[in-house]
Amino acid sequence: MDLIFEKSRPGRRAGRVPEYGLPVPEVPEELRRATPPRLPEVAESEIVRHVTALADRTFGVDTGFYPLGSCTMKHNPRVNERVGRLAGFRDLHPLQEDDGAQGALELEWRLQQILAEVAGLPAVTMQPAAGSQGELTGLMLVRAYFDERGEGDRRDTVVTADTAHGTNPASVTMAGYRLEKVETDARGNLDLADLRAKVDERTAALMLTNPSTLGLFDEGIEEVARIFHDAGALLYYDGANLNAVVGRSRPGDMGFDIVHFNLHKTFSQPHGGGGPGAGPVAVRADIEPFLPSPQVVREGDRFRLDHERPKSIGRVRGFSGPFGVFVRSYAFIRAYGPALREMSDAAVLNANYVLAKLRDVYELPYDRLCMHEFVLSARNLKREHGITALDVAKRLMDYGIHPPTIYFPLVVPEALMIEPTETEPKERLDDFVEAMRRIAEEAAESPELLREAPHRRPVRRLDEVRAAKHLVVRYLFDEHPALVEAE
Ligand SMILES: Cc1ncc(COP(=O)(O)O)c(C=O)c1O
Repeated sequence: MDLIFEKSRPGRRAGRVPEYGLPVPEVPEELRRATPPRLPEVAESEIVRHVTALADRTFGVDTGFYPLGSCTMKHNPRVNERVGRLAGFRDLHPLQEDDGAQGALELEWRLQQILAEVAGLPAVTMQPAAGSQGELTGLMLVRAYFDERGEGDRRDTVVTADTAHGTNPASVTMAGYRLEKVETDARGNLDLADLRAKVDERTAALMLTNPSTLGLFDEGIEEVARIFHDAGALLYYDGANLNAVVGRSRPGDMGFDIVHFNLHKTFSQPHGGGGPGAGPVAVRADIEPFLPSPQVVREGDRFRLDHERPKSIGRVRGFSGPFGVFVRSYAFIRAYGPALREMSDAAVLNANYVLAKLRDVYELPYDRLCMHEFVLSARNLKREHGITALDVAKRLMDYGIHPPTIYFPLVVPEALMIEPTETEPKERLDDFVEAMRRIAEEAAESPELLREAPHRRPVRRLDEVRAAKHLVVRYLFDEHPALVEAE
């Protein structure tokens, strides 16, 4: 497909507006451009076709089934967008005085209250813009908490699981902590013996997602909490997998002291490809004074941003957080109302349904009921036919299905991490099951078909390392991409 710059012809325009003879503001000489911007010159019809062709080549949750494990690619109800576009929310300036933004502040405050209830912890900051930023914020809170107790220098270690998402160790390192990894036992829980050996007076916190990235609820979580609290350390809950437990079990009740939410996953948001997201953080009462500033507070029937927070770790993002995300998540939650737990119930049911239908053709490394997602292994296909998890993923694209997450978590070889979400009807789950079963047959009958897949997508197998390391996102004019390619 040609790039828009390759379609450009000098002098072509999408449209022209009449000149009105209004005064043209004078731009000071030193600020004027020396040359016109290098924009593509294209007719409107060509722009529309170009953008439509690009959209056709893209796969999203609105295109088809998208069981990308750990990412919770659920349907985004359109009512969320409608509410987000209400002029009072959409056109509000972030510097608007509190008195002129009462509705927005009330929404933010109400969302805080709901999240506190879901987490089972009393105080919430809405500032972080992603789960990963929630993690970093949480660890900054851990540091502030121990600094005040005079233990900041001694407690320099944060423990994570060997199944942890990559952002966990990254956040630990960014926050200046030493990383200690704990192994997973044969049932897919944290290995308590390994854990006990690694928790001591240097431990500041545990960072854990429960259910884990294996889609398994940790059966020893109360004991885990006891071990950390007995050592004077804190427990941080990575809430990326919260879709499994909302209304059923609360991280605060499991013993966690700090929790982040991925609003863009659990409470729906068009995400993937970088945003928009939100990673609010809930904390127990004695950590509340350290929360980022400002906080939305209620005084009688008025709401305001509280900037007077002397112990606060400061700001982690501009203003009070990614507000458009709050509106959509609030709309999503209110649409469920008190039935919110049905969201998680359906997510867990869907995952177990698919698991039950696939467990005889792919290996199941941890043979237990799963939560909202599960991890299979294509190890048997590799052993018997030389077919890898990557081949399975690529072939799924030919069936019009987005591949699951693969090769993660790292503890499962040839991992296929599948998260159907609650918004898929039974027919779509059945389509997926059928495609996965058919692929297992193809692995035996015609392995070449899989090795060369996808066959029916606009692009075939990409050199993904090269694509990631030499990402060309701008037109290079004189150095045309084709030249870079030829290097
Ligand atoms: C288990 C887990 N933790 C943390 C994160 C980080 O969340 P975010 O992508 O919002 O930064 C993810 C994201 O996929 C995740 O799956």
